[in-house]
Amino acid sequence: MSAPSQPAASPVIQLRNLARTYQSGEVEVKAVRNVTLDIFRGDFVAIMGASGSGKSTLMNTLGCLDQPTSGEYLLDGVGVAGLNRKQLAKLRNRKLGFVFQSFNLLARTSALENVELPMLYALPMVPRRERRQRAIAALEKVGLGDRLGHHPSQLSGGQQQRIAIARALVNQPELVLADEPTGNLDTRTSIELMGLFQELNDSGITIVMVTHELDIAAYCKRMMVMRDGVVISDSRNPTRRLAAEARSSLDLAEQDVNLT
Ligand SMILES: Nc1ncnc2c1ncn2[C@@H]1O[C@H](COP(=O)(O)OP(=O)(O)OP(=O)(O)O)[C@@H](O)[C@H]1O
Ligand SMILES: [Mg+2]
Repeated sequence: MSAPSQPAASPVIQLRNLARTYQSGEVEVKAVRNVTLDIFRGDFVAIMGASGSGKSTLMNTLGCLDQPTSGEYLLDGVGVAGLNRKQLAKLRNRKLGFVFQSFNLLARTSALENVELPMLYALPMVPRRERRQRAIAALEKVGLGDRLGHHPSQLSGGQQQRIAIARALVNQPELVLADEPTGNLDTRTSIELMGLFQELNDSGITIVMVTHELDIAAYCKRMMVMRDGVVISDSRNPTRRLAAEARSSLDLAEQDVNLT
């Protein structure tokens, strides 16, 4: 299938016949089968599909957390297959930011320290002072400048997810990969999070996001659907929702409820 193209932009991600097969005992599971697609700079892609259709497997491959069984993955024009573990770690650290459904924050660590963490692994090393400044700036950007010393357990789900986003942003990634980032959030918080993603995307960051919810995919520029390891549809979203507008409508609806 040919991906919808944006001629002016260059591809951040190029997949050519990418496949990932798991071997567990006698059983072979073809989790991703021969996926060929391009994702361009500035894109905001939603990946949908039933449970088990291969979304997370594809995301783990895009995130260089897992290697394809066959096929090619070029990230920013560089073939990932030829890189060793150290080079992959460096690539992840420099170019990618991750956001997960379950936040994956360190529990006994403050918001600030959680966000500083990826910089501890950055090469060249980021000096302590700069680490702190950048972590504060990232937390301010997600609206948590007043929660720097709070631990995850002292924060709401939406706030924890925003810390995870600040952590994903702190190394100034080109690409943010989010696997069901709103899976544990209520409607309003989900819309706020999508607003944050839309702002980041407007500032030039490419985003690929897995979601089960059509309502959430509606905020993306491009929608893909997977089935049995194959991308069965891939199209531009002509009626993209804007989170800022959705929030105003929600505010109005809640006011109406309060008045009656
Ligand atoms: N480590 C593994 N070993 C063996 N099989 C696996 C492994 N990880 C995933 N699979 C299988 O690969 C297929 C795709 O799994 P994947 O996690 O990518 O699905 P998904 O689309 O993310 O589903 P969900 O929406 O439930 O998160 C499934 O059939 C799953 O059982
Ligand atoms: Mg999954």
